[in-house]
Amino acid sequence: MKLKHFFFAITLFVFVTSSYSYDEKSAKAIFESKCSICHPADWALERRKTADGWKETVKRMRKKTAGNVITDEDERIIVQYLTKVRGK
Ligand code: HEC
Repeated sequence: MKLKHFFFAITLFVFVTSSYSYDEKSAKAIFESKCSICHPADWALERRKTADGWKETVKRMRKKTAGNVITDEDERIIVQYLTKVRGK
C-alpha cells in the first residue's frame, strides 16, 4: 500500500513539474535554433501577435518542415515564449 502511494507521488511530481517546466532561457534557445532554419529567427521578433496568432504561425511553419523538426513540445514552448516577449 505504501509503495502504491510512493508511485502515485512520483507520478504526480513528474506530471506537475513537466507541465510547469517552462524556463525562458531554454525557451529562447529552442526558438532560436528551430526558427532560424529557414530565415533569421528575428523575423518573428519584428512583429507582435496574440497567443492564438503565434500558435497559428508556428503551426504554419511546422507544415513547411519535412519530418518532425519542430516537435509538439517545441511548438508549445515557442508559442509560450513568443507570446511572452512579442505578445499583444
Ligand atoms: C521550413 C522552413 C521554415 C521554418 C523552420 C520556419 N519558418 Fe517561418 N517562414 C518560412 C517561410 C518560407 C516564410 C515566408 C512565407 C510565409 O510567410 O509563409 C516564413 C515566414 C515567417 C513569418 C512572417 C509571416 C507571418 O506569418 O507572420 C514569421 C513571423 C515566421 N516565419 C516565424 C517563424 C517561427 C516562429 C518559426 C519557428 C517555430 C519559423 N518561422 C520556422 C519558413 C520557415
